[in-house]
Amino acid sequence: MARPHSDVLVIGGGIIGLGVAWRAAQHGLSVTVVDPAPGGGAAQVAAGMLAPVTELQYGEEPLLRLGMASNERYAAFAAELTEVTGLDTGYRETGTLAVALDSDDREELRELHAFQARLGLTSHWLTGRECRRLEPMLAPGVRGGLHVTGDHQVDGRRLARALVEACTRAGVAFERALAAELLLEGDRAAGARTDAGTVCPAGRVVLAAGSRSHLLPGLPPGVLPPVRPVKGQVLRLHVPPAYRPFLARNVRAVVRGQHVYLVPRADGELVIGATTEEQGHDTTVTAGGVYELLRDAHALVPGLTELPLVETGAGLRPGSPDNAPLLGPTALPGLVAATGHYRNGVLLTPVTADLVGTYLATGRVPDLAAPFSPDRFRPKAAV
Ligand code: GLY
Repeated sequence: MARPHSDVLVIGGGIIGLGVAWRAAQHGLSVTVVDPAPGGGAAQVAAGMLAPVTELQYGEEPLLRLGMASNERYAAFAAELTEVTGLDTGYRETGTLAVALDSDDREELRELHAFQARLGLTSHWLTGRECRRLEPMLAPGVRGGLHVTGDHQVDGRRLARALVEACTRAGVAFERALAAELLLEGDRAAGARTDAGTVCPAGRVVLAAGSRSHLLPGLPPGVLPPVRPVKGQVLRLHVPPAYRPFLARNVRAVVRGQHVYLVPRADGELVIGATTEEQGHDTTVTAGGVYELLRDAHALVPGLTELPLVETGAGLRPGSPDNAPLLGPTALPGLVAATGHYRNGVLLTPVTADLVGTYLATGRVPDLAAPFSPDRFRPKAAV
């Protein structure tokens, strides 16, 4: 069986693939998304913290620029989605408070603060008392913190739902099956075959299959670097109305070397994340993972042990070799990458959709995407 030919076939209907599909359709291209359950994937687990400033890492300044660009687009992206679908994405301009629980953490946060200042980023140093004034549920031992008013949040599940609806309204077709093989015509990517045997022919193929992207059968060797799965376990608690606002903003800390964050949603959901584990495509929720998250979150906000625990889950972050995304044309003509977003998939959805959508419509790689070319990992030809 064969589907009609599309201008663009997107392999992977997570939020990255859907965002690209939506923008490509808005540019007037015919688009098909192949995925057994569009709107699924890591966004169903992610806490949805939009934190380019608090998650700043040394040596990742190009990624910071991309993250800041996406953060700046978020309010308009979310508003546009709501306007076309009538669905709320849970985007909230809450800000983030990163706190220190001991003097070593405090020194580390002070260094981060200085680094942020050198890069012209806005963050405010607060004493422990000032932190607790903002967030009275914080542990009395909090030693100080950074208030980052520009780091916000979105609800990944609502975002995914809205993107599926926006795609549908924009005329995107869905092939609800797994892409089992990339199809080539000569030296070009020309579509995919699904596990149900359906052939989906297309002018261009966008690979947006998260941590499985480089495993697609038919992908010639060396076209994409390995995208490794990095497991994150996450807990969901519920704050009953009588306890609200339990927390007013995202709260995070490093406890015994592990990052822990709490993301409070308007509907009372409180998401606690996340472990970082490299053990292949395993999404088992473990007693140890749940224990560590609760132990560290409790050190930060002791009162949360009173709240109902409503859900545990685990997702797989797609990590590229340098933890930055793979965006744009690959060495295989007709194959375009939109994957490898690692810890930043939710944050980078608007900018990825815009940049890859523009490339598909114009054939031009926008300047902002240039540092993230998938070709950066290919061995340079000897001169
Ligand atoms: N960006 C949060 C995480 O990857 O856990």
